[in-house]
Amino acid sequence: MTPTSAPLSERAAEPVLEVRDLVKHYPLTGGGLIRRRTGAVRAVDGVSFRLGAGETLGVVGESGCGKSTLARLLVSLERPTAGQIRYRGEDITRLSGRALKAVRRNIQMVFQDPYTSLNPRMTVGDIVGEPYEIHPEVAPRGDRRRRVRELLEVVGLDPGHLNRYPHQFSGGQRQRIGIARGLALRPEIIVADEPVSALDVSVQAQVVNLLAGLQRRFGLAYVFIAHDLSVVRHISDRIGVMYLGRTVETGTDTQIYDHPTHPYTQALLSAVPVPDPAARDRRARILLSGDVPSPADPPSGCRFRTRCWKARERCAVEVPALAVPEAFRDGRTPARHPSACHFAEERRVVPAEGAA
Ligand SMILES: Nc1ncnc2c1ncn2[C@@H]1O[C@H](COP(=O)(O)OP(=O)(O)OP(=O)(O)O)[C@@H](O)[C@H]1O
Ligand code: SF4
Ligand SMILES: [Mg+2]
Repeated sequence: MTPTSAPLSERAAEPVLEVRDLVKHYPLTGGGLIRRRTGAVRAVDGVSFRLGAGETLGVVGESGCGKSTLARLLVSLERPTAGQIRYRGEDITRLSGRALKAVRRNIQMVFQDPYTSLNPRMTVGDIVGEPYEIHPEVAPRGDRRRRVRELLEVVGLDPGHLNRYPHQFSGGQRQRIGIARGLALRPEIIVADEPVSALDVSVQAQVVNLLAGLQRRFGLAYVFIAHDLSVVRHISDRIGVMYLGRTVETGTDTQIYDHPTHPYTQALLSAVPVPDPAARDRRARILLSGDVPSPADPPSGCRFRTRCWKARERCAVEVPALAVPEAFRDGRTPARHPSACHFAEERRVVPAEGAA
């Protein structure tokens, strides 16, 4: 097993989706007549997790850490450089043609930007019904309009508006249209790539609540991507924190929020908005220095070491494995969860509401 191959969770006994050591490298080529390969952008570099039916995995990390690349791999918009994506036990990275098409029906995506992801020249009815053109077996032609109306209703839109165009809707409503399109083929899994990041804060909770309601109603499994830990908390059963193409810490929402052991997670948490003013004042502040290094030339050893205030010599030479740190292996503490740090320590960053 490579250092990054520990699964996010052993909980999901029969996962609907299982990702093993997933890698996506984009080749870099030099200029000149002969375009020689000079290196690679390691966008995703050894990610593993399991997702059970009806479960939500939240994936968080800063810009450029590989979240959207992971999303595109999961819905087969791109092929991985290495690794496996197993859907109900079958490795779908090897599939093509009709077999791939059949699997893709079950794993749908909701995109970040409801402004650019909807074709402005198509009516809402045509946008939501478009998946039926690719999969006519799901809805016979004569039944499509009825289904589209039903989908609009399910996501809280007026079914009478199916002849309107995207610009006639607000941002939140447009994201509802994107969600309706994602549901059209009745998938088992939805990969939502920052579905609320482009929306006003006041609308974000409504869309997250809608997704949570749809999950209960249809038994959907979600991979819910965000750059902010506060967005994923209430919808996620488990959370994976990514840094430069790798998972650095995974656990339940309580383990990650209240008992983080990886310095990067602690730094992300210190930026999370805290509604309670008293708790806000007590919150530890961790300011990360510098930018995320280039994924074309990641640091040796621990990739976080160039920004980590705890880095020592060992961090430059030894890649930390994503595993339960030795210090927490025996106890029953909530800090007992995988963390890729040689010097993992529990540190509560966000104080419990109302705690003295
Ligand atoms: N097609 C591509 N060719 C080359 N490099 C790419 C390609 N797609 C993504 N990358 C690079 O891979 C890295 C990861 O990008 P990705 O979009 O997956 O990150 P992200 O976590 O989704 O970031 P953001 O929060 O900004 O959406 C970035 O350095 C990006 O520039
Ligand atoms: S392994 Fe070292 S550099 Fe990496 S997070 Fe832990 S202490 Fe920091
Ligand atoms: Mg992205």
